[in-house]
Amino acid sequence: MAERFNDKVVVITGGTDGIGLATAKAFAAEGAHVYITGRNEARLKDALVDIGNGVVGVRGDVSAPSDLDRLYAQIRGDHGRVDVVFANAGVSESAPVGGIEDDHFDRVFDINVRGTVYTVQKALPLMSAGGSIVLAGSGAGSKGFPNLSVYSATKAAIRSFARTWTTDLKSRGIRVNVVSPGMVLTPALKTYLQSNDGAEEWMKGAIPFGRLAETHEVAKAVMFLASDESSFVGGAELMVDGGFVAV
Ligand SMILES: NC(=O)c1ccc[n+]([C@@H]2O[C@H](COP(=O)([O-])OP(=O)(O)OC[C@H]3O[C@@H](n4cnc5c(N)ncnc54)[C@H](OP(=O)(O)O)[C@@H]3O)[C@@H](O)[C@H]2O)c1
Repeated sequence: MAERFNDKVVVITGGTDGIGLATAKAFAAEGAHVYITGRNEARLKDALVDIGNGVVGVRGDVSAPSDLDRLYAQIRGDHGRVDVVFANAGVSESAPVGGIEDDHFDRVFDINVRGTVYTVQKALPLMSAGGSIVLAGSGAGSKGFPNLSVYSATKAAIRSFARTWTTDLKSRGIRVNVVSPGMVLTPALKTYLQSNDGAEEWMKGAIPFGRLAETHEVAKAVMFLASDESSFVGGAELMVDGGFVAV
């Protein structure tokens, strides 16, 4: 299993924290040339030190097409190709229906949906046969959690993209799949749980495995979908949620 990604060029949007950071570490440890993005410059610098292994950071917002152009221009100059895209950058915000404001709707759709579309579309000229695209979905896309309708709809859109893009890209030998985490112990979620009494117990009770996921467990699923081990898997959604959606 070691060095599965030796010399592969891997792009991870939102690679400075949480799932993206853990995934960047895992790819870099297996020999990949990893490119990460994120909006906050200081966080990006910290992540580069944390990941090591020659990782490259390109500051940028996935909802700004010119930032994505800069990212891919740099990769074109450095390597001339992309082998794996993990379109991970995403934001979660809540609002009850009846109280959905324009800026909430636009921000969540711009980052989660438009950002994913252009992250993938702008990578395509650099991708060749055997390439793999992994999209970050969410169990929320298949559920009806209170006040999460806009976020959940963005993740349902992501799940749909993997179906159509599998068809659109089949002639090029590029696979597209979704990894859908359930509740993952990212730094952001840890902070939320510390200030919301009872939330962790509710989550643990709702998840069949009785615990939340660690970020490296999501990374392992992303790497499976990115690697040749999943060579006949396409248009799929891999839930990494301790059985939450399925059971
Ligand atoms: N954590 C969970 O329990 C969970 C569950 C289901 C699905 N997911 C999905 O998994 C993905 C990662 O979630 P996470 O919890 O790991 O997030 P996180 O800990 O909040 O980290 C998000 C990362 O994305 C970056 N980012 C946010 N908006 C961006 C933008 N517009 N352009 C570029 N980078 C951006 C952040 O850096 P900057 O803020 O500096 O840009 C950060 O590096 C998301 O798509 C999320 O919806 C997470």
